[in-house]
Amino acid sequence: MEHVRLHEVSKFYGQVLAVDRLSLSINQGESVALLGPSGCGKTTTLNLLAGFLQPDGGTIRIADRDVAGLPPNKRNLGMVFQSYALFPHMTVAENVAFGLKLRRVESAERERRLKEALDMVRLGGFADRFPRQLSGGQQQRVALARAIIVQPDIMLYDEPLSNLDAKLREEMRSELLDIQDRIRITSIYVTHDQEEALALADRVAVMSNGCVEQIGTPDEVYEKPATGFVAKFLGESNVLPGTVARADGTSVVVDLGGHSVHCQTSERFSAGDRVEVVVRTERLAVSPERLSTDNCFKARLHHAIYLGGTIRYLVQLGDHRLIMVEKNRGDRAALSEGSEVYVGWPAKDSLLVKLP
Ligand SMILES: Nc1ncnc2c1ncn2[C@@H]1O[C@H](COP(=O)(O)OP(=O)(O)OP(=O)(O)O)[C@@H](O)[C@H]1O
Ligand SMILES: [Mg+2]
Repeated sequence: MEHVRLHEVSKFYGQVLAVDRLSLSINQGESVALLGPSGCGKTTTLNLLAGFLQPDGGTIRIADRDVAGLPPNKRNLGMVFQSYALFPHMTVAENVAFGLKLRRVESAERERRLKEALDMVRLGGFADRFPRQLSGGQQQRVALARAIIVQPDIMLYDEPLSNLDAKLREEMRSELLDIQDRIRITSIYVTHDQEEALALADRVAVMSNGCVEQIGTPDEVYEKPATGFVAKFLGESNVLPGTVARADGTSVVVDLGGHSVHCQTSERFSAGDRVEVVVRTERLAVSPERLSTDNCFKARLHHAIYLGGTIRYLVQLGDHRLIMVEKNRGDRAALSEGSEVYVGWPAKDSLLVKLP
């Protein structure tokens, strides 16, 4: 069942078009991530939903009701931001219960829900502390408990984990997943961190320049990018410009200037089309011996960078510098820099982007 619908919503700041006829539909209980580069309009979209901003065009419907002109406090939303925005002079308990007090929930009920909310974010023992006595991750949990306790219909998150260090971010990510599983509330999660979007959302809306380029499940947007922007924005890729030499149904051969690359695609291409072949760094293989895969080329290993869990290879293929990332299983002798190697990948891992 549809819960939130944005239909051709636009927003200007003066001359700047921040959101450009954006359409998006979110189902009841679904978690959707808005993912895109800085300045693409994610926060603006969230603020339009929350009612802090009014659209210059289009409509926003929540639970089948046009919310134009409806103030934020009448939309029953919970919000968690990058900055925790806790009240510094209030304890954790006072911060979390604040919304219930405003709503005049009686004190026994307030205590019960406070305990439940603090337990949910694993801060049971912290009720009497002040925000300054908490770590960043703990403060963010207080902000989350404060939003959840009022039982909002929809949760809006704007980069809630981006102030946390990498390890804590990972931890909070799985906690958020747990909490989402338990409360199953419609959630919109803004981030420019792709892993976070892929990990947390049922569907990911990839945005650029104020509109949604593609919306799909995490593996749809990653494996079947609908546009060149999505192909290049998600993951880490090698982008190789070339010209289509032959196209035969789903099978296309691209000339990179000396190297012929086999590609598989569901789109139509014809000989002479200018294209980019996009290959994710984790789909390439490098080896001292010839590889039995659709594309295999002799190349030179320029650099091998040891990163612990992975090894990153920089390989020179003609004019192209390829990056590839391999899992370090600890079972193979290091390839020596400067040596001749083979680099290869399957045709299905060559994403094709048509150039204008
Ligand atoms: N108050 C404002 N006045 C003028 N321009 C603004 C204002 N807020 C945002 N913008 C502009 O609108 C566009 C979209 O901004 P928005 O904050 O929605 O981007 P974002 O996707 O959230 O980016 P980030 O990832 O950096 O947070 C940008 O070009 C930005 O410079
Ligand atoms: Mg933002």
